[in-house]
Amino acid sequence: MKIINTIEEISQITDRLKQEGKTIGFVPTMGALHKGHISLISRSKEENDVTICSIFVNPIQFNNKEDLEKYPIRTDEDILILEESNCDILFIPSQEEVYFEPATERFSFGKLEEVLEGKQRPGHFNGVATVVSRLFKWIKPNKAYFGEKDYQQVAIIKDMVKQLDMPIEIIPCPIIREEDGLAISSRNLLLSSDARKLAPKIHSILIKSAYQKDNLTFSQIKSFVSSEFKLIKEMDLEYFEIVDDETLQPITKKQENGVVGFIAVWLDGVRLIDIQRYY
Ligand code: PAF
Repeated sequence: MKIINTIEEISQITDRLKQEGKTIGFVPTMGALHKGHISLISRSKEENDVTICSIFVNPIQFNNKEDLEKYPIRTDEDILILEESNCDILFIPSQEEVYFEPATERFSFGKLEEVLEGKQRPGHFNGVATVVSRLFKWIKPNKAYFGEKDYQQVAIIKDMVKQLDMPIEIIPCPIIREEDGLAISSRNLLLSSDARKLAPKIHSILIKSAYQKDNLTFSQIKSFVSSEFKLIKEMDLEYFEIVDDETLQPITKKQENGVVGFIAVWLDGVRLIDIQRYY
């Protein structure tokens, strides 16, 4: 695996690959790689001639300084994981490299960013779109792979490539879970062992709520979820919302379009998110 640190070098490599008619699959990450990321790399390897992964902890998408300071950095382990996954190229730029020009980009995603994570974390999606649009410009992928745990991020990035007219296919990939159901996330590494034992409750409560979907209204499902979390003193439910799977706007009645529940929960000072499909 080649490791590249500069925009100049990665741009030259991807220009050359394009001239040779090779397809590029791209997996952007913030490191602390896990099985979820490996599944994205494997999918990219199946569908493209060359797979590029990036590791860059993007400060401007953290709206909470402590969250940024706590974010796990494990570059040596990440390199080993990527080598074992047969990733072709790893791009690890520095802050100075990515933000050689100040981040003045201002995106507007309308209602898509006014709900859920966008509502709770002001500026977060502008920060994500800024870094992803820059990485896309340098890497010029044919396809880019994102996990569906960050479902709203996928919707925002699809909208961003449309707005910027970038010929890149955004491929959402299924959530990978631990055996006990916990959605795999780099943030899980920050949980104490007691908190880690409790964390699968998030998925199990959502599953329980989904079993009852045909007998309860969405408002009753929301009350059920909220009352279940009130019983667990270690967990603090930040929000649980049931939305249309495309517009991400809250809905109250069953409909033709898909329906997804979004949740954010605090446990042991760590913010965990997950989703549950209802229809
Ligand atoms: O999902 C992530 O890890 C990040 O938001 C991304 C897409 C790498 C942008 O920093």
